[in-house]
Amino acid sequence: MDWGLKNRMQRIFKEDGLTVMLAVDHGYFLGAVSRMEEPAKTIPPLIPYADSLMVTRGVLRNCIDPKFNIPIVLRVSGGNSVLNEDLSNEEVVVSMQDAARLGVCAVALSIYVGTAHEHQTLLALSKLINEARDFGIPVLAVTAVGKELEKRDAKYLSLASRIAAELGADIVKTYYCEDFQKVTESCPVPVVIAGGPKLKDETDIFQMAYDAIAKGAKGVDMGRNIWQSRWPVAVISAIRSVVHEKATVDKAVKLFEGLKNKVA
Ligand code: 5RP
Repeated sequence: MDWGLKNRMQRIFKEDGLTVMLAVDHGYFLGAVSRMEEPAKTIPPLIPYADSLMVTRGVLRNCIDPKFNIPIVLRVSGGNSVLNEDLSNEEVVVSMQDAARLGVCAVALSIYVGTAHEHQTLLALSKLINEARDFGIPVLAVTAVGKELEKRDAKYLSLASRIAAELGADIVKTYYCEDFQKVTESCPVPVVIAGGPKLKDETDIFQMAYDAIAKGAKGVDMGRNIWQSRWPVAVISAIRSVVHEKATVDKAVKLFEGLKNKVA
C-alpha cells in the first residue's frame, strides 16, 4: 500500500485497528435533518470523541473550524433528495482535486445494489477509486438501502459489501443485521456499521455496536443515534468504550448514565 494511503487509513483506524467515525453527512439529501439544523453548533462538541468525521464539503468549509485536527471522510456522492421516491440516482459531485485541497483522509460514496441505478453507482465507485488512487486517498463505499429498509439482511448486505470490496473500495460501510458475521467474513476490507434511524434507547445502540464488533466490524460510522440523542457526548463516549475498550453493554450503560447529566 502506498505511504499516503496507508497513513490515511491509520489515521482513521486507531492502533487497535478499530474506529469510531461520526457521520454528519445526512444533509446532502435530507437537508436540515432534525437536531442537525445548526451543524456549526452541534458538531464541534462531539469532535474530541470521534476518530474521524464523515461530512459534506459544504458543512466542512462553513461549519468546521480548520483548527480541529480530525481526519475527514468526505461525502462525495449526491444529486438526489428525500422528496424523490427513488434515492438511488446519485453521482460523484466533488472532484478529487477539491477533496485533496480539503486535506481529507478518505472519500465516501453510496452504492445502490439492486436498484434502478445499480450500474451507475457501481461505475461511479470504480471511477472514484481510480481517481482517488492518484492522490493516495482511500475510498469508503456506503452500501445504501435508501428507503428500502427491508434490504437490511445479511444476504443483501454481504452481496453489496463484497461487490464494493471487489471493485477496490478500501472501507465498506453497511448496516448491522442478523448473521452479521456473514457480511464481515466475506468482505476482505474493513467493515464499519451505520447506526440507522434512532433506536428505542441508548442500551440498544451500545448493544448494536457491541454485537457488530463481536461479529467482525472494525468500528462504527454513526450519526443520528448520537446527535439526535439528548445526551450526544455521553452516547459517543459510551460507544467509544465499547469499540476501543471492549466494554460490555452493561459497562457502557453505566458510563452513559454517569456522564449524561455531567456533559452536554
Ligand atoms: C447517509 C449516510 C450516513 O452517514 C449513515 O447513514 C450513518 O448515519 P446513521 O448512523 O444516522 O445511519 O451514509 O447516507
